Amino acid sequence: MNKEELLQAFGAVFGEGGDIVTVFSPGRVNMIGEHTDYNGGHVFPCALTIGTYFAARKRDDRVFRFFSGNFEKQGIVERTLDALEYDEEKGFTNYLMGMVWSYAKRDMIVNEGMDVYLWGNIPNGSGLSSSASIEVGMGKVLNEMYGFDVPNREIALIGQYSENNYNGVNCGIMDQFAVAMGKADNAIFLDTATLEYEYAPLALDGMKIVIASSNKKRRLGESKYNERRAECEEALAELQTVVDIKSLGELTNEAFEQYKDAIKSEIRQKRARHAVYENQRTVEAVRLLKEGEVEAFGKLMNDSHVSLRDDYEVTGIELDTLAEEAWKIDGCVGSRMTGAGFGGCTVSIVKDEAVDRFIKEVGEAYLKKIGYAADFYVVSIGEGTHVI
Ligand code: GLA
Repeated sequence: MNKEELLQAFGAVFGEGGDIVTVFSPGRVNMIGEHTDYNGGHVFPCALTIGTYFAARKRDDRVFRFFSGNFEKQGIVERTLDALEYDEEKGFTNYLMGMVWSYAKRDMIVNEGMDVYLWGNIPNGSGLSSSASIEVGMGKVLNEMYGFDVPNREIALIGQYSENNYNGVNCGIMDQFAVAMGKADNAIFLDTATLEYEYAPLALDGMKIVIASSNKKRRLGESKYNERRAECEEALAELQTVVDIKSLGELTNEAFEQYKDAIKSEIRQKRARHAVYENQRTVEAVRLLKEGEVEAFGKLMNDSHVSLRDDYEVTGIELDTLAEEAWKIDGCVGSRMTGAGFGGCTVSIVKDEAVDRFIKEVGEAYLKKIGYAADFYVVSIGEGTHVI
């Protein structure tokens, strides 16, 4: 969708004229470093060129009117500044009003509403962070509309705050940070303990990033996610009785092996082992990538999946099938689940000449084993949330 089409779509719903703010906010894919962001570890995500488009115009009353081009049948959904709290019945608008509420918590108070049109091309429920895309995009719209001067890095933190405290999902910082801070052709090597980050070119000459969506409905996702977080927190508390650390991300693999007996359940040991090893794997993977060792990077992606499957237990038969079938394809450099898990997507690095075969063979094997089709997307790495 280009700017003209966006303005047209806005005009068709809300009428032409006035000053209209337009924003694009991407989705994200994480290359490696999964379930490390709430354990003080490293992540390595990138922003995609697919995402959410916003067009917005200020109103002179206290009403917000939202229209999603993806849910046309819902029509215009109205909210008001006089009832800012979460409203289950108002669906996706909670991601938008959550940002208004979260800005207000930081004394950035809005006194006039707006009309907002949004449309996104992130596949629905795919685990490519459509919610973070919407949150950070709305932050940018608020900035432009009301003259707030919040840098993108800060919008990411407000987005996470909103997701945690307004929408009730206890997520880490990775998604909002990747969406806000993305840079074309680069992934972001982020230390979630300090929020220090650096860009690393994903120089994939002769290769593509292929996302495979399992199309599995993510039912238990959120409760299982919060359960894993709690298991890690308990394991950390047990470790802290024998070693002085603030997060699992501070441990090397060797130190973990030395102290792990302090963790009194086998399950929690597995969860913590994943968090520690995955963090070290991410650091190593980025080092290898910088040296141009893409094949070695790919092997660590595969190891990451195995650890998420066996130790962290967040994959499931759908994601396992996608990854394991991918590993069989000559020309697939690496493949793993990405995001929270329990459904969602895998991300794979595939040599150009193998992409068609990859999609065909993994797709057929998936359909045969799971009974419904996966969807495949060859994606590009784009810029973080910005005005268009
Ligand atoms: C979800 C969360 C992120 C992160 C990933 C797992 O995407 O929103 O904060 O924890 O899961 O790596």
